[in-house]
Amino acid sequence: MIEDDAGRLVGRTLVSAASLRERVGVLGAQIAESYSDLTQPPLLISVLKGSTFFLADLMRAMSIDLNLDFMSISSYGSPGIVRILKDLETDVSGRDLLIVEDIVDTGLTLNYLRKTLRQRDPASLRTVTLLDKAARRIVPVEVEYKGFEIPDVFVVGYGLDFQGRYRNCPAILAVRDIARLANDPLVLVDQLYGKAR
Ligand code: PRP
Repeated sequence: MIEDDAGRLVGRTLVSAASLRERVGVLGAQIAESYSDLTQPPLLISVLKGSTFFLADLMRAMSIDLNLDFMSISSYGSPGIVRILKDLETDVSGRDLLIVEDIVDTGLTLNYLRKTLRQRDPASLRTVTLLDKAARRIVPVEVEYKGFEIPDVFVVGYGLDFQGRYRNCPAILAVRDIARLANDPLVLVDQLYGKAR
């Protein structure tokens, strides 16, 4: 439980650091096994920035030869309208691609990514997401590997942010009082990091 100075509940741990370690280890081994017969290394595609913590741990749990590239995309503000801020440096034609996401929420981002990458003629295309918030889905989208299904709560930590903060929290926290956090974006800082502001 994470409370503010007045004792009001602001958030709680949804997935502990230990659970993350364990699940990501299992997922990494499972995915590595499914790619072990390939003649060329799969290409992991990380979607900046939230997926980077998951990516780093997942890759180290995959004991196979692999390659890595990054994309950065941004929403135009309208649902499903997305633009590429940073594209891949790799020619993905004929490659086995694994999109690495931290969270699938409405599915709009992943839907766009999958469509875009399919047009580049990869040999295969799969997705792994650490978190699946299926209750929020607007478009159905294929997700081959999932770490955790989570309820419709706002989450921060292990790469996920609120206004750029809290990515470095080692656990995933569910924010109970989002209005309180919006009012005071630093409200979790003292509780998490124990520093005076
Ligand atoms: C998050 C996440 C996904 C997307 C999922 O990125 O990394 O890319 O939102 O949401 P959707 O399913 O509703 O499209 P975000 O835009 O928060 O950027 P960040 O990773 O840089 O924090």
